[in-house]
Amino acid sequence: MRKNKNNYAVWSTRVKKKTSSTFKKAGSSINIDKRLYKEDIKGSIVHTEMLYKQKIISIKTKDKILWGLNRIKNEIEKRKFKFDISMEDIHMNIESRLFELIGDDAGFMHTARSRNDQVLTDLKMWMKDSVNEIDKLLLRVIKSLLNNSQKNIKTILPGFTHLKNAQPISLSHYFLSCVEMFNRDKKRFKNSYDSLNENPLGVCAISGTSFKIDRWYTTKKLKFSKPTNNSIDTVSDRDFVLDFLYNVAVCTMHISRISEELIIWNSDQFNFIKLKDNLVTGSSIMPQKKNPDTLEYLRGKTGVSYGSLISMLTIVKGLPLSYFKDLQDDKELVFNSFDTLKNSLLIFDEVLKGLIVNKAQMLNAASKGYITATDLADSMVKNLNITFRESYKITSRIVNFAERLNLSLEDINLDQMKDIDKRLNNEILEQTKLKNSVNSKKSYGGTSFENIKKMINKLKKEIK
Ligand code: ARG
Repeated sequence: MRKNKNNYAVWSTRVKKKTSSTFKKAGSSINIDKRLYKEDIKGSIVHTEMLYKQKIISIKTKDKILWGLNRIKNEIEKRKFKFDISMEDIHMNIESRLFELIGDDAGFMHTARSRNDQVLTDLKMWMKDSVNEIDKLLLRVIKSLLNNSQKNIKTILPGFTHLKNAQPISLSHYFLSCVEMFNRDKKRFKNSYDSLNENPLGVCAISGTSFKIDRWYTTKKLKFSKPTNNSIDTVSDRDFVLDFLYNVAVCTMHISRISEELIIWNSDQFNFIKLKDNLVTGSSIMPQKKNPDTLEYLRGKTGVSYGSLISMLTIVKGLPLSYFKDLQDDKELVFNSFDTLKNSLLIFDEVLKGLIVNKAQMLNAASKGYITATDLADSMVKNLNITFRESYKITSRIVNFAERLNLSLEDINLDQMKDIDKRLNNEILEQTKLKNSVNSKKSYGGTSFENIKKMINKLKKEIK
């Protein structure tokens, strides 16, 4: 066990017995929070510079500390740094090594600071970068969706409600619906930036400090936008963690819903799509199999991100203000959620690039289930000057008739139609054609081909 200069924990003058070794092991977070080393060192450098600027420490001390911190960063990056679980977390590991490197002057670094504000500063810095990374990945997915959309403007498939044929749609319109989901995710992550941008450093343990620190200086140097307002709230607050975990949960849920749809489309019964071979796995026993494991992975991982959100909500639920050790688990949850989402977005993007669309099968499926019955009813309203409720009834009779004779709407001839209602004519029947149906949905946001083309252009402009 490597320790500070006294070879004891910093609180050993007060706490006389050694901490239970089981607890030391279990309660140590170094294996998780070593991921924050860069942010921790950056935070310490800026904090030390501020202490010097405010004449709280001498230039000599400042220079020694900065030299030590840079050296530690180097050691970690060259994998020469020995992380020690008995030093609990990243903050104590670095401080302890600083003592080894520069001696007693290391003791000045923690002036006007507590691990309570330190850990929050590190985590917020880390999360800001992560949110930017997620934003880039979301953009990549949106581009792939727009690309798929561009290629499938005239691809017609059944749109479902209740998984029953509802109305024909363009596949392009389906992909554009996914773009909307991910654009909302982007916005949600962007909104979370406001609270991530508030600098916790300087609130110390709970009440602030009597040292004349400059929180605006550290705010600027660490690229935050303002210091947090209240020291008690700052060390207690994990809302920004909850926001992040919620945003990840929603985004993985979007991926999961689309994955589920694609799994259905990929089934032998639907046969709407295939996946390129790099996206499927085989079976250890059934030689014919190509299973969509990638999509199932994406659907399954949503459970992990929901778990993180519920865990964090539960952790804070009964916590009085302010800091408690319970909060230490926030980082593991954030890291897990981030890793899960990052992998999911990368894999989902590969799926989008490896989709093979069976256009003929989609069209074939769209010709079933009297999918243009609503168009027929709409057309009667326009041509016969009757109410929609009346045309709905006439159309129901036509569907009943067709079903009895096992015909599609297009198969019924005009004479048969006229037997049901003599006002019907060919113009009205034209609307039962799939293409006409899709192309007639010109209302803003509808699936007509021209709407889609305009929307693709608009969305492409927006991401430039
Ligand atoms: N490792 C701790 C955490 O992540 C750092 C803050 C510790 N503060 C304390 N008073 N024990 O929460």
